[in-house]
Amino acid sequence: MNIAVRYYTRSGNTKKLADAAASAAGVKAENVDVPLTEKADILFLGCSYYAFDVDASVKEFIVNNKDNICKIVLIGTSAMMKSMKKPVRKITKDAGIELSEEEFHCKGEFKFANKGRPNEEDLESVKEFVGRVINL
Ligand SMILES: Cc1cc2nc3c(=O)[nH]c(=O)nc-3n(C[C@H](O)[C@H](O)[C@H](O)COP(=O)(O)O)c2cc1C
Repeated sequence: MNIAVRYYTRSGNTKKLADAAASAAGVKAENVDVPLTEKADILFLGCSYYAFDVDASVKEFIVNNKDNICKIVLIGTSAMMKSMKKPVRKITKDAGIELSEEEFHCKGEFKFANKGRPNEEDLESVKEFVGRVINL
């Protein structure tokens, strides 16, 4: 099975999750600036909320790489939201890509909120999540 990990981050929170996820999958996490060069059976996509939406570069990545994505599994952080599915589903639906019901989401530090998140416990949890998804 071919696994890939991509992420978008502004302050590093999502990169922490993506790096932990990638280590569990035995691959390297890359920024969404790095296109997929081969078909990914599972793409773990790290993205977070900015004004109730995902960054435009995440949308562009999905559209530009749709031929190399079989299924997206989201991993993300945010100050208060619980899931990234809503904004991402708008893109995957149009692009004809499967968006997994499985998702990992945790709090991310933002200004004075959620200090230190994602923390070590979050990183262990995302590793467990990835291991479980890969072995489903
Ligand atoms: C400009 C901006 C807008 C944000 N908007 C939201 C939001 O609408 N909802 C939310 O729950 N968190 C929001 N956040 C918090 C981020 O989603 C959170 O800090 C996340 O962990 C950032 O991940 P990153 O460090 O990988 O960029 C916002 C953060 C920034 C900087």
